[in-house]
Amino acid sequence: MKKIIAIVITLLVIISGIAWIDFSNTPHPVSFKVPKGWPAPVYDFKNNPLTQEGIALGKQLFYDGQLSKNGKISCGSCHQQFSAFATYDHALSHGYNNGQTTRNAPSLQNLAWQKKFMADGGINDLQLQPLMHISAPNEMGESIENVIRKLKINARYASLFKAAFGDPLINTERLGKALSQFMLTLVSANSKYDQVLRGETSFILPEQLGYEIFQKKCVSCHPPPFFTDFNFRNIGLSIDNFLKDKGRMKITNNPKDSLLFKVPSLRNIALTAPYEHDGRFNSLINVLEHYRKNMVLGPTTDSLLKNRLPLSNFEIGQIRAFLNTLTDSSFLQEPMFAAPGIGNNRKAPIHEH
Ligand code: HEC
Ligand code: HEC
Repeated sequence: MKKIIAIVITLLVIISGIAWIDFSNTPHPVSFKVPKGWPAPVYDFKNNPLTQEGIALGKQLFYDGQLSKNGKISCGSCHQQFSAFATYDHALSHGYNNGQTTRNAPSLQNLAWQKKFMADGGINDLQLQPLMHISAPNEMGESIENVIRKLKINARYASLFKAAFGDPLINTERLGKALSQFMLTLVSANSKYDQVLRGETSFILPEQLGYEIFQKKCVSCHPPPFFTDFNFRNIGLSIDNFLKDKGRMKITNNPKDSLLFKVPSLRNIALTAPYEHDGRFNSLINVLEHYRKNMVLGPTTDSLLKNRLPLSNFEIGQIRAFLNTLTDSSFLQEPMFAAPGIGNNRKAPIHEH
């Protein structure tokens, strides 16, 4: 009888032990906060629920050069926090073996509301975007299998994947999911513009005048709160003879989509120079000069721009003042988004655009 009781007790201890271990392995859910007045996100969180551990793993991966062939190029080397996760001051970014990207790196922010990625919308699942970068020879130059192999021999990742997904299995799907979790947390919603909207501060006169001009001339393609309508449009940029980039047509093969590019968000725009899909303009002045007089009108030019966008010098000044209110310094300096262990010690360079 005593023996039986001893066995039962031992079993109970083992079972409760297992239960405890399981419990301690459960990742901690994080609820995605939608800023007040914003629409519901389009990202399918059910398929990849945010957890503290998943986000932490994603951030570790985002800043890890091991995802590239030579161990030096991380996602964060092209997507820099002080530039709202765009590449600062480079028209095209440098990748593996001094390869250059064929497009300007866009900012990464508010991705939970975006359905199509890249300037031509060629990727429609956030989870797949990192895989494209890893294997592109001019970007990270590495095969997915090699990345998985490198992560598997790193004991630290075994425990990070276990913490994030409940068991230490490392595979492509989990790599994409963890990176997506981190990227989804990159929400920028605290610029001066947002604060004005919340009644916490007010525009100074040039910003207010710029806002009014913006609402007349820009808002149809760059509507708040994202300052993009996420559509593809042709704003009359002449084709680059070297890159020969036809934009959306690359994906659809439809001549009607020739030279259409995704409307970019204007949030943090003062810090994401250079501009346009190929980074051809160094400053906002160049962008506005383009709209008022340098457009090349062709068969696919957006109907809203058929008469170009008449803007006086005065209006350009006011619009720039307004665009500067879209800078969200709390986003650019948020320690939760910064490289683990290093921190965001690089302040945004002081540079007027
Ligand atoms: C060598 C530079 C470089 C590296 C490294 C890089 N990116 Fe990018 N990223 C770019 C460029 C350039 C684009 C724009 C591509 C296009 O439009 O064709 C881009 C686009 C994106 C987009 C789409 C954004 C949008 O709004 O459409 C996401 C998301 C992204 N990158 C995430 C990542 C992740 C995650 C990693 C690491 C696995 C990474 N990037 C590594 C340069 C880079
Ligand atoms: C017909 C739609 C449309 C209108 C109107 C429009 N834009 Fe754009 N804008 C776009 C598209 C599309 C792009 C991206 C083009 C590309 O990359 O080839 C863009 C790019 C930009 C960029 C560069 C962003 C970056 O990150 O590279 C800025 C800045 C900008 N627009 C500001 C404005 C302002 C200010 C106005 C009003 C004066 C305006 N836009 C009116 C569609 C429009």
